Amino acid sequence: MNLLNDNFRAEKLEKTDLSKLIGWAADEKTLIQWCGPVFNFPLTIEQLEKYFENTTGNEPSRIIFKSLNNENVMTGMCELGAVDRKFKTASICRVFVDPKFRGQGIADKLLCHVINYAFNELHLRRLELNVYSYNSAAIKSYERLGFIREGMKRKVTQYKDEFWDGYMYGLLKDEWKG
Ligand SMILES: CC(C)(COP(=O)(O)OP(=O)(O)OC[C@H]1O[C@@H](n2cnc3c(N)ncnc32)[C@H](O)[C@@H]1OP(=O)(O)O)[C@@H](O)C(=O)NCCC(=O)NCCS
Repeated sequence: MNLLNDNFRAEKLEKTDLSKLIGWAADEKTLIQWCGPVFNFPLTIEQLEKYFENTTGNEPSRIIFKSLNNENVMTGMCELGAVDRKFKTASICRVFVDPKFRGQGIADKLLCHVINYAFNELHLRRLELNVYSYNSAAIKSYERLGFIREGMKRKVTQYKDEFWDGYMYGLLKDEWKG
């Protein structure tokens, strides 16, 4: 995937970017779909700053990326979390594209950048992720990039009177075609 000259670039998320995320999850269902139980609705700067703490230090367990367009507007974010340098694994999580910029393939480009970083810079060998089974926009993107469905957690989350199943996906370095 050509990431250059494509109204797209990716960088590490800065603490000063956090407040931009607050408006993106405008309702509780979206917040849970994005983050599972990690944040409480409504999202606040205090919750985000606490979350951001794990990104500091020499070998952080959490590395967060943002996508920007040619006008330097932040259009999306994606976390590489649970980074385990001993076992060479990590999770892709909290993938989010600003609703104003959906449907332009930004998630694919940002994920591609994060996967390349994980396999080529951190030399990890396995990435995994969880996604709710109804989230077809996210699932299509993960499958386009080569993630393999490895299992399903039934009724993993309750939201009001709904029970959501979750899929688990994995991608190994040898399988990555990026
Ligand atoms: C999942 C998500 C990251 C996909 O981001 P994206 O950059 O819009 O992805 P794509 O451009 O590939 O679009 C995905 C699909 O959403 C559709 N879509 C959703 N909202 C859209 C909008 N406002 N405008 C146009 N298309 C939209 C697209 O048509 C596309 O469907 P298609 O593949 O059948 O054509 C984004 O929808 C999102 O942030 N969702 C909320 C958080 C979330 O669910 N994160 C994943 C947690 S596991």
